[in-house]
Amino acid sequence: MKCSKTLSVEIASVGSYLPERVLSNDDLSEMVDTSDEWIYPRTGIRERRIAAPEQATSDLAAAAAEQALARAGLEPEGLDAILVATCTPDHQFPATACLVQAALGARNALACDLEAACSGFVYALTHAAAMLETGMADNILVIGAETLSRMTDYTDRRSCILFGDGAAAALLRRATDGGQVLYTELGADGSGGDLLIIPAGGTRSPASLETVKNRRHYMKIKGPEVFKIAVNKLLELLQRIPEETGVDLADIKMVIPHQSNARIINSMLKRAGMDLGKAYMNIDRVGNTSAASIPIALAEAVEQGKLQRGDLVLLMAFGGGLTWASALLRY
Ligand code: COA
Repeated sequence: MKCSKTLSVEIASVGSYLPERVLSNDDLSEMVDTSDEWIYPRTGIRERRIAAPEQATSDLAAAAAEQALARAGLEPEGLDAILVATCTPDHQFPATACLVQAALGARNALACDLEAACSGFVYALTHAAAMLETGMADNILVIGAETLSRMTDYTDRRSCILFGDGAAAALLRRATDGGQVLYTELGADGSGGDLLIIPAGGTRSPASLETVKNRRHYMKIKGPEVFKIAVNKLLELLQRIPEETGVDLADIKMVIPHQSNARIINSMLKRAGMDLGKAYMNIDRVGNTSAASIPIALAEAVEQGKLQRGDLVLLMAFGGGLTWASALLRY
């Protein structure tokens, strides 16, 4: 789905939360046969954050949400909707968004989760933008939150080096400050679903002693296959921006890509002829936090003053599903 209609919707504020505990590459090298020398050059990751045992995804999400609301000066009762993009919910149901709604006291907000793996935040933002543009809602909290460490197999060196925990929230409203959503593109190819998958725990393969014994409740990834598809698909999304919007890539102030692998991001930008410095990167400190990755980076870019009102920013994601998404915003 592509939408090149300009929407008068803007990000009023952002908030983020990273758990305190740091898991470094050196820590991982004591758990599996790996090393910083292998991990960093291949991924760009040096460390990632891990949630405390008593924290679940809704706790991280609520902390990020509180910050976004406080920065916008909006009371929780003023929210019309809470959308949580996550593939690591607290429970199968209720939705993590409902738990966040209760934690905030946002009693007037609808609340539901959206699962599009690493593309989830951009998917949710696009749905929220449509609801705001039609006048169905005035204030929507879009949250990306993950506790991937609970689904990570720390005996599998091919995957456990990649993932971390975290959350971030963006409060979206009908524009009052000149912000716009200029273009969004969302896509999927379910035939590649087995490339990134938690095989058991759902209706296809319910939890059993066997599934636990065989470690089938952890993420299984075919990393090299995903890598190749991700670079090509992200490049396609990037190259489509000028033809769909008339915006020259040189005029985009910042690209905020899903932080999957620094090599994927650099390869995409290089092949598009873009300055590598345009990409906001925090993968070295945060790792891959799936649906939380883009909003965490966005929140950091805003906090650091690297993104100002009026700047063009391009959000880009690729992940499990397979799914992909891009959104060109005037911040
Ligand atoms: N430490 C040391 N050696 C490792 C290792 C680790 N953590 N992980 C894999 N290796 C070894 C492999 O066993 C393999 O050895 P072999 O050739 O003797 O079999 C060798 O390193 C190369 O492995 P490969 O998987 O081909 O590495 P890669 O260069 O493709 O990098 C990823 C692996 C996972 C970093 C990379 O493919 C990637 O980032 N893919 C996308 C990740 C993804 O799916 N993210 C989620 C969706 S966004």
